[in-house]
Amino acid sequence: MIFDTHAHYDDSAFDEDRDDILKQIHAGGVELVMNACADIAGLKTGADLAEKYPFVYISAGVHPHDVSNMTEEDIELIRKAAANKKVRSIGEIGLDYYYDNSPRELQKKWFLRQTELARELSLPVMIHDRDAHRDTIDILRHAKNEGGVFHCFSGSKETAREALDMDMYIAIGGSVTFKNSKMPKEIAAYIPLDRMVVETDSPYLTPVPHRGKRNYSLYLKYVTETIAQIRGISADEVERATFENGRRLFGI
Ligand code: NI
Repeated sequence: MIFDTHAHYDDSAFDEDRDDILKQIHAGGVELVMNACADIAGLKTGADLAEKYPFVYISAGVHPHDVSNMTEEDIELIRKAAANKKVRSIGEIGLDYYYDNSPRELQKKWFLRQTELARELSLPVMIHDRDAHRDTIDILRHAKNEGGVFHCFSGSKETAREALDMDMYIAIGGSVTFKNSKMPKEIAAYIPLDRMVVETDSPYLTPVPHRGKRNYSLYLKYVTETIAQIRGISADEVERATFENGRRLFGI
């Protein structure tokens, strides 16, 4: 009973063996996947996957890396895509001040605009926040959205507290398994189990002991085992709780 709440199976890293991988993960116990389509082109691949595989759902939105040339027409395309019942979230959207691939003013503008769309469509938001905690929280407060999740949470306990106070979920991924990752381990211990979900961010962020290889949903067991150790509970319990939390979060 595993729910990978953030993966990119529309990514070109899976062009050679996408169908094999999706069959493998489902046979291996992954019962739900939320595919985050990171750009407009990904919406089509994502929708095709969701149609072919009943266990695949979609999140639609434009990543902060790619908002430099975003327009209102893109908002319309996301709105149209969201008519598909398998679109259960808007994202990944947010701010990335680490890479700064798009100008910050545009990142803020299109993040806010996409949170407005999410509210209008009554969908939760899937947030990407890298070194931009303050502005991310401020925009979310302003947006008064329908809840959502901080994907691959990288903030402090204080930021986690603010996110939890806004009824957001917090997603733990491969970084919790990294030897030098003090903060993700603290967060995995700190947040209540009923606000936690797990994710791979496949093909990225591969957990120990497979770092450097392409990630996929069956590696989620290293994440749930690490969380279980940190919290002193069984990996089964982590899987069960995060599965139910993910369903609640996305209304599945
Ligand atoms: Ni991602």
